[in-house]
Parts: sequence; structure tokens; C-alpha cells
Amino acid sequence: MQNIKILNMDIYITKDYDEMSKKAAEVVASVVKEKENPILGLATGGTPAGLYKELIAMNKAGEIDFSKTSAFNLDEYYPISKESDQSYYYFMRENLFKHINIDTDKTYIPDGSAEDVEKESEAFDKLVRDTGGVDMQILGIGTNGHIAFNEPADNFPTKTQKVNLTESTIEDNARFFDNIDDVPKEAITMGIGTIMNSKRIIMLASGANKAEAIKETVLGNVRPQLPASILQFHKDVTIILDEAAAKDLLESL
Ligand code: F6R
Repeated sequence: MQNIKILNMDIYITKDYDEMSKKAAEVVASVVKEKENPILGLATGGTPAGLYKELIAMNKAGEIDFSKTSAFNLDEYYPISKESDQSYYYFMRENLFKHINIDTDKTYIPDGSAEDVEKESEAFDKLVRDTGGVDMQILGIGTNGHIAFNEPADNFPTKTQKVNLTESTIEDNARFFDNIDDVPKEAITMGIGTIMNSKRIIMLASGANKAEAIKETVLGNVRPQLPASILQFHKDVTIILDEAAAKDLLESL
């Protein structure tokens, strides 16, 4: 496994998705073991699913205990009910929470059925603040460079809020739905300010379709049109890539 350091970023290049997931699980597990009351920030989607499988296996083997862990999720589609099998609430339950010994009363996901989204968003940010901040935030990255659902824009949104998904994100996520028209057009997302307040950040990316966004995240100008580039300003970022996602970055060094 190759390890390179660029600015504040500790970058690991693994051979494939499985090795990426195992390395990520090692890093996340070290935080859960080291903190008395660990606070994790969680992502959904195809990228972290393998990491969650690894964490489940470690928990079942008695290597890691989640009983004192709290968790905040980055985002949720809007509008969507918790019961919908396309909701991120459902994803987290099926892919992680129901398999580990986490107290689900300490897991928080923006409510995609909230009537007053502004109130819901403010309450979510306050909850994160009141816990003292996230110890380790797990991030994926959109092919367009989004983090959480902070899409390319003219500024970096700071707070949790409702956003419109871009056409490219709707197309990317259509693979999880029967029909592209079923993909929600909006989401509630943690803002970039809240993400940047996390003590540590770990970003994962797998596959050639992420290669350009990863190169720009690490080497490009920091700009809201490529939201993940803001990570250059965070003091403690680990990026774990597979070879396909690392290709453009490695060719530019
Ligand atoms: C999901 C999230 C998104 C995804 C990104 C990549 O909670 O915050 O930013 O991480 O869209 O999605 P996948 O992993 O499905 O390629």
C-alpha cells in the first residue's frame, strides 16, 4: 500500500475496494478504541458499505465496542420517510446499526420527513455542537466533487440545510433506484462548516469515475465549485483510495 503526504493530507493508495475498506476500518476502529465516548460522522452510498461490513465483523469478533459511540449522518434525501427503503435512515439501519452494539438513541440522521426543515437543520447543528464535535467524520465524494450533498456552488455553505441535487448527482444515484425519476431532487445536508469542525476527517474513494474529483480535491485550487477542495484547509485529513480513484492524482505528481 502506497502512502503519500500532501499538505495536511495523509493519502493511502490501496489495490482495490476491499483493501480500501479494510484500511478505513482500521483507522475508524482506532478512534472508537481510543476515545471514551467516541463521536463518529457517517456517510451513506456505495463507498462506505464495505467499511461498514468490516466494522460489523470486528464488532462481532469482540474487537471493537460501539456501546459508547454516538453517530451523526451527513445527509438524507428530502422528502422521504424513514420507512422508505431508499432513505438513508433505512440504509444505516440495514448496513450498520442493526448489526452492531450501538445505542440507536445516540444515532442522528437529518429527518427527511420534517415539516419545518429549517428548525430540523438548526436542531441538528446544535446537537453536533452540544456533543463537543465529531471525532472522526467519514466522507465519500461525488463525481462532481461534492461532500455530503454540498454541491458545486459559488460559496461554501456552512450550516445544515435543504439543497437541490444537481443533475449529475441524480444520474449517479439513479443506480440505487428502479427509475431515474424516482430519485429525490432535494436533500437535507450537513454544511461544510459543520464538516470542517470535525476533529479528524477520513475520505474514501473507489473507481475511475472519482479520479478527476480526487485530483482536484488534493491538488486543485480551493474553490466552492469543487466543494471537497476545502479539505486542503483542514488540519487532519486521511484519504484512502483504490488505484483507479488515485490514477489522475498520481499522474499529476
Ligand atoms: C452520502 C454522501 C455523498 C456520497 C457521494 C458518493 O451520505 O454524503 O456525498 O458520499 O455521493 O456516493 P457513492 O459512495 O455512492 O459513490
